[in-house]
Amino acid sequence: MRAPGKVNLSLRVGPLGPGEQYHQLTTVFQAVSVYEEVVARSSDERTVTVSGPQAALVPTDATNLALRAVEALAAATGTDEGVALHVDKGVPVAGGMAGGSADAAATLLACDALWRTGLSRAELLELAATLGSDVPFVLQGHTAMGQGRGELLTPALSRGEFHWAFAVRDTGLSTPAVYREFDRLHALADDPREALRRGGGVAVPPDPDDDVRLMQALRAGDPHALGAALHNDLQAAALELEPGLAEPLAVAQDAGALGVVVSGSGPTVAALARNRQHALVLAAAFTASGVADRVLTATGPVPGARIVAED
Ligand code: C5P
Repeated sequence: MRAPGKVNLSLRVGPLGPGEQYHQLTTVFQAVSVYEEVVARSSDERTVTVSGPQAALVPTDATNLALRAVEALAAATGTDEGVALHVDKGVPVAGGMAGGSADAAATLLACDALWRTGLSRAELLELAATLGSDVPFVLQGHTAMGQGRGELLTPALSRGEFHWAFAVRDTGLSTPAVYREFDRLHALADDPREALRRGGGVAVPPDPDDDVRLMQALRAGDPHALGAALHNDLQAAALELEPGLAEPLAVAQDAGALGVVVSGSGPTVAALARNRQHALVLAAAFTASGVADRVLTATGPVPGARIVAED
């Protein structure tokens, strides 16, 4: 199986209601050609091994999202079958690009095929949403607007191919920590000038109409317009926790990126290029300035999780 990572072209975060665990979102996802590869083999046990440049950062115990997907599918279908998984990670770990979610999505499809569960696509999507807010999107791929906590998807039209360069850091950011920092910044709204100075302000329920220009840019296949419309409400919180992120943002701007944004909860920085050649120029600028532990280039949109080879 292969499942892509994602970049949030727009991420608008509403307030956290009392007693609520998740923030209401309006986001526009694009799946990009950075992949997790998952091999699933029949086994008496349920195990996972991991390879790739950041494999050491990934747990292989029951907290691993691929193993949680195995357990969720087994519980939903009442099977006692096992599986031996191997995950080759191409998506940055804890980078805001849904690498763990891609593992979960690929694993759901792999075990569904291996165990012949007969679940419908809708049932798989429902199970995906229980595993994480981004899992349904990486299962679907392409371009979509996400609402609710990100799991309610509406496919969006997008023409042509967009080119990206990504600055990756080995020290990831915890998604819950970034949301907590977002809440802290917005709590400063008692003092609106201080809140604005730190990138905060009053959190308002997100309005999908705020992304009209972005959706038009996607329909037109216009990278200049898309670059101007990129938006991330979590960026100020990510920068507060990791001030060094200002450097890759500035480097990409200086190298002529059409737009640059922190991906999801970060710390990966996504720079939109004019074309494939320019994506390599942006990647070289990241590398030359020493602002990234690793640099990737990719295109989007691409399809979601799917079987690439079967024995
Ligand atoms: O759904 P996922 O497991 O990716 O979310 C991880 C954490 O990020 C949640 O436990 C929550 O703290 C935060 N989150 C949030 N609002 C969302 C999505 C995630 O507060 N819409």
